[in-house]
Amino acid sequence: MRALLCFLFVLFASAAVAQDNPNVRLDDEPVSEVAPAKIEARPATGGAQTREDIMARQRGEEVDTSFRREFGDPDSAAGISNQLGTLGGASDPDLWRALRFDEANITVSAGGDVAKVLVQDGGMAWYQFREGPLTKYGTYLLLGTLGLLVIFFVLRGRIAVDAEMTGRTVQRFNAVERFAHWLLAGSFILLGFTGLFVLLGRQFIAPYLGREFNSTLLTASKFIHNNVSWAFMLALVMVFVFWVIHNLPSRTDLKWFAQFGGIIGKKHPPAKKFNGGQKIIFWSVILLGGSISVSGLSLLFPFELPLFAKTFTALNGFGVNEWLGMAPFPTELSPQEEMQFASAWHAIVSFVLMAIIIAHIYIGSVGMEGAYDAMGSGQVDEAWAHQHHSLWLEEVKAKEKEAPGGATPAE
Ligand code: HEM
Repeated sequence: MRALLCFLFVLFASAAVAQDNPNVRLDDEPVSEVAPAKIEARPATGGAQTREDIMARQRGEEVDTSFRREFGDPDSAAGISNQLGTLGGASDPDLWRALRFDEANITVSAGGDVAKVLVQDGGMAWYQFREGPLTKYGTYLLLGTLGLLVIFFVLRGRIAVDAEMTGRTVQRFNAVERFAHWLLAGSFILLGFTGLFVLLGRQFIAPYLGREFNSTLLTASKFIHNNVSWAFMLALVMVFVFWVIHNLPSRTDLKWFAQFGGIIGKKHPPAKKFNGGQKIIFWSVILLGGSISVSGLSLLFPFELPLFAKTFTALNGFGVNEWLGMAPFPTELSPQEEMQFASAWHAIVSFVLMAIIIAHIYIGSVGMEGAYDAMGSGQVDEAWAHQHHSLWLEEVKAKEKEAPGGATPAE
């Protein structure tokens, strides 16, 4: 039943494409005349193909299929404006099969070879993955992360600054760093919401708020998503350049992890400008954000930036499929399959990064006393700096002493 539905969907979708696209012409337009002689040849089925026709075709024998092209009575067909209306009585499964298996003789006046593909089976697998597991597990991941943070907040509460605030501050991030961070944050949040609307709108918004509303929302979302992506990529490069030097792994990180970063328990392990946990956030943002950007560019410029056949070839070369106990990844992909992989990968990685960022937003705002100031005003209290980044505070103090007159360099 599912296979039948799938096939019907592809059929109708491609029918719509063929009708809507004035650039496409099918060389074998269906003939819609009744041919009584052909019907007589197959009286048991009223002219339709017989089991023997099917078996012969499966044996690879040549079958005269002209009877199927000339079958049907357009005058008795349901009107096109009626429900389940047809274009006439003619049925031409061979044409549709040829379209499906890319054997039809199609000419296009624009769009190149890619535009000649009117039916592509992979589209169904992609569609089902998107509406099914991607939506389901992606939503679970985000809601699960939110739930865990609520539980964590209830159990651990807000991480307080243990010592008295000193009233003396040190500069943690300058204005340009903060600009880059908020550009990254603002664009990511917009991209996250608009991406989710586009993914979930049909299933979760349209049934409640109506198709008209969903359509307007999705049109706006797509516009925002496509254009704000540039701000995200710019901010990603800025943040990488500013902070990569502080995020190289060091031995201090191991000690920090060994003590769970002071998040569990009361100890506050020493850390430089960024602690082990922040380095994980940094590299997640750079690597996952980078991957989202590249796959996003591949979607933004359809068919211009195929990524996956080459990636799969490299993965097979490294034997990754064998480590995973899987068959080799496909290395020959049609342009449409490349787009489907890009779309699926873009969404999967985005869900993972969204979950990580939800945790980051928590710890940078309600989760930790004094953290927000670092990105708000750029100034943090020395007591906070001592508790969370003692080695960094020592470095800043040493530099202050070295500076002529011992003045705070940032002020
Ligand atoms: C409203 C949302 C956000 C808030 C309140 C927030 C808050 C903060 C704060 C307070 C810091 C500095 C921590 C410190 O001084 O040690 C920080 C750093 C950082 N933020 Fe955000 N942030 C937000 C969204 C984002 C987003 C969306 C991204 C990336 C997509 C991001 C990426 C980073 C990175 C890479 C760092 C440096 C590493 C780290 O401190 O974890 N932030 N953020």
